[in-house]
Amino acid sequence: MSEVKGRGAAWTEEPGLGDEGRRRSEGGMGRRAGPLSRANQQALLEVEGLTVRLRVEGEQRAVLRDVSLAVRPGEALGLVGESGSGKSMTARAIDRLLPRGAAVSGQIRFDGAEVMTLAGAGLRGYRNQVAMIFQDPRAHVNPVRRIGDFMTEALRTNLDVPAGEAYRRAADMLGQVGIDDGERRLRQYPHELSGGMLQRVMIAAALLTEPKLLLADEPTTALDVTTQAEVMAILDDLRREFGLAMLFITHDLELAAAICDRTAVMYAGQIVEVRESALLHDDPLHPYTAALAAARPDIAQTAHRLAAIPGRPLSAFEAPEDECAFAPRCPHAQEVCREETPELIGLDGGRSRCARAVDLRGRLRHELAEGGLSDD
Ligand SMILES: Nc1ncnc2c1ncn2[C@@H]1O[C@H](COP(=O)(O)OP(=O)(O)OP(=O)(O)O)[C@@H](O)[C@H]1O
Ligand code: SF4
Ligand SMILES: [Mg+2]
Repeated sequence: MSEVKGRGAAWTEEPGLGDEGRRRSEGGMGRRAGPLSRANQQALLEVEGLTVRLRVEGEQRAVLRDVSLAVRPGEALGLVGESGSGKSMTARAIDRLLPRGAAVSGQIRFDGAEVMTLAGAGLRGYRNQVAMIFQDPRAHVNPVRRIGDFMTEALRTNLDVPAGEAYRRAADMLGQVGIDDGERRLRQYPHELSGGMLQRVMIAAALLTEPKLLLADEPTTALDVTTQAEVMAILDDLRREFGLAMLFITHDLELAAAICDRTAVMYAGQIVEVRESALLHDDPLHPYTAALAAARPDIAQTAHRLAAIPGRPLSAFEAPEDECAFAPRCPHAQEVCREETPELIGLDGGRSRCARAVDLRGRLRHELAEGGLSDD
């Protein structure tokens, strides 16, 4: 992308990997750099203080509040949170796909260049580098256009690749995502393909422009469980083989932990924790992450009752603005939590937005190990 110049921003968060994280990184495939070697790399994507307000029924509603995250080259960062927490809005803001009239502040940098000011060819070039895969493939393809036309469009129009060459590359890429007889598939229409096959087509299309970063927004939740696993394995393998970075959005903490180096947890439009995925489940830094971990089913203890989080998840515009957004549901809430919105601070190699993070350090881990979270 010709517009992108300069070096990526320095990323200072130093994940302290445990043995488990080290083993996972050493077991990686292809050209992928493990988390240890990536820890000192410049960030490929850096989001700082991103706040987004949308106009709803005449009033501005916050959907993201002070979101900061970074993705290093080749790294997979999970973005996890309950419905309405702002995961999709974060990806849309990064890809400059927010609804019309959105009020945006903060910064987004990709390869060191400002993203907010891109327009025209610069923006198209950026989107070739940062490809998006959506949850529901049928909602993002034109039903009356052939698969080949859809897949080759960016190559032909943005990168001036001749049509014959574009179709050849598309057929090859279909082979890479496990779809045989690519040339015939390119002549088919979306309704002739199953949901799982169409999502594989979307992945192939996203990879064709040779992006550096994939924004995958719940790419498998619309599929049945077996197909989910197949599509997830293909996405994970190809990402590693091509050395791509990925922001992987899911509401499933387990899935994020299985495929992502680090995971960021969102609540009410804010990032509340960023942690090495290998540590997130058993040694979380934020009470909300601990509550999510306690709420996951444990197949080894079928009789164990799930620890539901009290209350309901809040959107950014519903959450209290000048205190901790999780305070109404937090078993550890105290007076200090209601004095101001906690900052996202660095702690134990991760980050936590909790006024009592230092106090609670280690205690959340202990409570999870004991099988439940206690009140203060
Ligand atoms: N076009 C829109 N106009 C106004 N508000 C919106 C719009 N799209 C989303 N929102 C609101 O923005 C907030 C964040 O939505 P977002 O889609 O990012 O959530 P999410 O974390 O992706 O949830 P899910 O897991 O259900 O996909 C929610 O409160 C949602 O209602
Ligand atoms: S700041 Fe207080 S209320 Fe918020 S998560 Fe931390 S302990 Fe809970
Ligand atoms: Mg979403």
